[in-house]
Amino acid sequence: MNILVEILREAQQLYLFKEKEIVPGLDPRLWHGSFNGRESTLQQLSPYVGKMKSGMARVLIALYSRPGDTVLDPFAGSGVVPLEAALSGRCAWANDLSPYAYVLTRGKLEAPEIERVAIQRAKSLLDAVKRESPSVDINVAPEWVREFFHPDTLHEVLSAFQILRQREDYFLTACLLGILHHVRPGFLSYPASHLVPYLRKTKYPPEKFPKMYGYRDLSSRLLEKVKRAYRRHTLPPHWNERRYEVWQTNSMNLPMGDETVDAIISSPPYFGALDYARDNRLRLWFLGCEYWKELDASLTANNKVYLSQMSICLQEMFRVLKPGSHCILVLGDVERDDKTRLTAEILADLAIKVTQRQFEVETILDDRIPDERRSRRRTGTTKFERILVMRKQ
Ligand SMILES: C[S@@+](CC[C@H](N)C(=O)[O-])C[C@H]1O[C@@H](n2cnc3c(N)ncnc32)[C@H](O)[C@@H]1O
Repeated sequence: MNILVEILREAQQLYLFKEKEIVPGLDPRLWHGSFNGRESTLQQLSPYVGKMKSGMARVLIALYSRPGDTVLDPFAGSGVVPLEAALSGRCAWANDLSPYAYVLTRGKLEAPEIERVAIQRAKSLLDAVKRESPSVDINVAPEWVREFFHPDTLHEVLSAFQILRQREDYFLTACLLGILHHVRPGFLSYPASHLVPYLRKTKYPPEKFPKMYGYRDLSSRLLEKVKRAYRRHTLPPHWNERRYEVWQTNSMNLPMGDETVDAIISSPPYFGALDYARDNRLRLWFLGCEYWKELDASLTANNKVYLSQMSICLQEMFRVLKPGSHCILVLGDVERDDKTRLTAEILADLAIKVTQRQFEVETILDDRIPDERRSRRRTGTTKFERILVMRKQ
C-alpha cells in the first residue's frame, strides 16, 4: 500500500474525524502522539539525544520522495530517517561525524531480515566471548569507565566489542550499545541513567541495593535485547534488496557526487543546544573514541562556528541535490533569556544567500513539542521544532 495512504488512515483512526479532515500534506497531525508502540522496534536499538520522531520522518519521506529515490540525511544521528527511508523502499544515504551515530545507523540498516538469524549471530558471538573474555585486560579502560561495571561484566563487554569490531557486525554492536547503561536489570552497568551516562549511587547506594552492584551476565541480556529489537520489526518484502550507504564524515564535505540525491531530509545540529559527544561519552569510549571533547569541538553546534559551518553544509546539500528536488530541515528553536532564536528563518536566509537564490523556500512549519517529549527541561532547551522546506530550482 502507498505509505501516504497508510499514514492518513492511521491518523484518521486516531482522530476519528473529530477534527477537520486531514488531507495529505505537511500537517503535524499526521505524526501526532507517541510512536513508541507503533514504530519498528529497530528504531529503539539505542537512545540518542535529539532523535527525530519516526512518524515525522515517515511522513516527510512519503511527501517528498518516491519509491526507488535516493534520500540523504547528512546529520543522521541515530539513523531514524535512513531506516524509515529503507523501510519505505527508498535508497537510504546517511552521514554523521560521530562514530556512535555511524554504528547505530549502520546497525539499523544491517539488521538481519529475521530474528532467528540475529539470534544465531548473537550466540556465536557469546561463544567467542566465553573463550576470549578471561584473557582480556580490563585495565585498558580508564577509571571513569571501570566505575560503571562489575569487573566480570566488564571482561565480557570489552571482549564482545573487540570481537564485533573484527567481525564488522554493526547490528550486534548497536544492540550492545543499547544495553550498556541504565538502572534496569536488563542492562550491563551499575545503576546509571540511560540517555546520558551518570551513575546513580546517591539514589541507589551499594549498601542498600547490593544486588544492583553484582555481576551482570552479558549472555542473557544481549539475547533479550535482540529479541526486543524484533518485537515489532515487520520488514517489507523488499528488505533484502534494500540499498543504503553510510558515511562518517563532516557534512561540510559530503562524499557523494553532484546532483545525485532526490531528497534531503535531516535534522541538523541546533545552535549550541546539545553536546552530542559528551552525552554519549561512555558508548563512544567502547567504540574507540576516547577523546569526546575533541569530537564535540569538531561537530557543528558551537555558537561561534555554527553559521559559518552551516553555510558550507548548505552549499554541499545544494550541490548533491538534483534540480527540482527538496531539502527538508527539521530545526529546534531555543529560547534563552526570553529570546527565541529563529534558526529556521536564519538558515533559510543563509541558504538563499549562499546559493544565489537557487534554493527557494517553500514553507516553514511550526510544530510545537509537548513537554513530555522533551528530553531535558533546563533553561535553554529546545522549545519547538520548525520544518524548513526548500526546493532547488
Ligand atoms: C539533531 S542530531 C540528528 C538526530 C537524528 N535526526 C536522529 O533522529 O537521531 C544532529 C547530528 O548532527 C551531527 N553533526 C553535527 N555536526 C556535524 C557535522 N559537521 N558533520 C556531520 N555530522 C554532524 C551530530 O553528531 C548529531 O548526530
